Amino acid sequence: MLDAIRWDSDLIRRYDLAGPRYTSYPTAVQFHTQVGAFDFLHALRDSRKAIRPLSLYVHIPFCANICYYCACNKVITKDRGRAQVYLQRLEHEIQMIASHLDPGQVVEQLHFGGGTPTFLSHDELRQLMSHLRQHFNLLDDDSGDYGIEIDPREADWSTMGLLRELGFNRVSLGVQDLDPQVQRAVNRLQSLEETRAIIEAARTLQFRSVNIDLIYGLPKQTPQGFARTVDEIIALQPDRLSVFNYAHLPERFMPQRRIDSNDLPPPEAKLQMLEHTIEQLTKAGYRYIGMDHFALPDDELAIAQEESTLQRNFQGYTTHGHCDLIGLGVSAISQVGDLYSQNSNDLADYQSQLASDQLATKRGLICNQDDRLRRAVIQQLICHFSLDFADIETRFDIDFRACFNDLWPQLSSMASDGLISLESTGVQVLPAGRLLVRSVCMVFDAYLTQQNRQRFSRVI
Ligand SMILES: C[S@@+](CC[C@H](N)C(=O)[O-])C[C@H]1O[C@@H](n2cnc3c(N)ncnc32)[C@H](O)[C@@H]1O
Ligand code: SF4
Repeated sequence: MLDAIRWDSDLIRRYDLAGPRYTSYPTAVQFHTQVGAFDFLHALRDSRKAIRPLSLYVHIPFCANICYYCACNKVITKDRGRAQVYLQRLEHEIQMIASHLDPGQVVEQLHFGGGTPTFLSHDELRQLMSHLRQHFNLLDDDSGDYGIEIDPREADWSTMGLLRELGFNRVSLGVQDLDPQVQRAVNRLQSLEETRAIIEAARTLQFRSVNIDLIYGLPKQTPQGFARTVDEIIALQPDRLSVFNYAHLPERFMPQRRIDSNDLPPPEAKLQMLEHTIEQLTKAGYRYIGMDHFALPDDELAIAQEESTLQRNFQGYTTHGHCDLIGLGVSAISQVGDLYSQNSNDLADYQSQLASDQLATKRGLICNQDDRLRRAVIQQLICHFSLDFADIETRFDIDFRACFNDLWPQLSSMASDGLISLESTGVQVLPAGRLLVRSVCMVFDAYLTQQNRQRFSRVI
């Protein structure tokens, strides 16, 4: 069974190392400044020649209030006027990039993320979508996957109506935890009613899919309290759920310094929260897709996993892995053919680059043959929990065993520990290893060193 996961505390303790989430391989940590706008434009030219379909990611960095746990690229401001300047620069970027692409390149997927995209006023959202439609080939028959992240405190029925009218058909809602004590500790007061109203609007307006984000490991959380949150969320029947492990890295994320580390649940309690969440979700019919994600069996992600067409990119798990991904806005990442490129993380820098007619590309990476090979291996493991040596051998013209022979002792010990089964034809990630799938991927990561591992969080 695809969704079978088995909880094994002992394995989790031993194999839950800090590591990447593999929304890309090589990961963004490897991006460097030798890759810039020139390389990006070059990649766009190839994309245009091949008329590859597109997936657009648009980053809106603003939030009206700070959530102390937040590790996203965002700018906290009450000044709604700041959005106008940003939108001008963003529209310039849209126009510049689109001019290098072919109008025949269909936008199969669109995602607005943040920050809080609904920080924008209705007029601004209209203006931005109309600008995107003017420059890119957006579908207008509701057949694309067009999603937006919504903070339920920053949206209402009329916002939802507008978003549907503009062509969005998927929503992802930030919730994190429903317990008022936890909400106070992270400075995010959000009632169940606010969340429910948005979900009801989404259903009534026939959005195709609703996702909810939860976080475990937040200050003041207890296994009992979090179980209540999960039950209340299950009652709302979202199609997908993301259950993230709170990554507490106050040295890197300033707002997290406002969290008292004494309030954080101990590792044993976090383990219980995750174990219980999995039980609750499984009982309610959700499938484990992998890496923090659950979905109802009729959701596209669950179907794609069953049909082995699931892929993973900066948008997380996706059915649009064949598209070139164009990232627009501050900190946005693009993946075009073998190129990864990222815009400046700094809002002022991003805006001033575009004000002077320059793209804001700051860093990136061009995959070499070894990267492509390892990327394919990691994709198979993380999306399908299996690895077919013959498939990789055909695609890359290699002898798998000869190529990765030095990894066999590690793989063999994972096999004898019951994480994977290792056969002459391939690897299967066993139910007890599925929660730890990234530890299996890490074996194939050529860049991982003890030192750079510390930049990442743990799975659990
Ligand atoms: C851009 S936010 C979602 C949209 C909107 N800003 C909101 O909060 O409702 C993306 C998600 O990242 C997750 N997240 C943010 N910081 C995190 C952290 N430090 N550890 C784990 N998950 C985190 C939260 O679940 C959050 O909903
Ligand atoms: S979690 Fe969402 S609303 Fe809160 S600060 Fe982060 S991006 Fe903004």
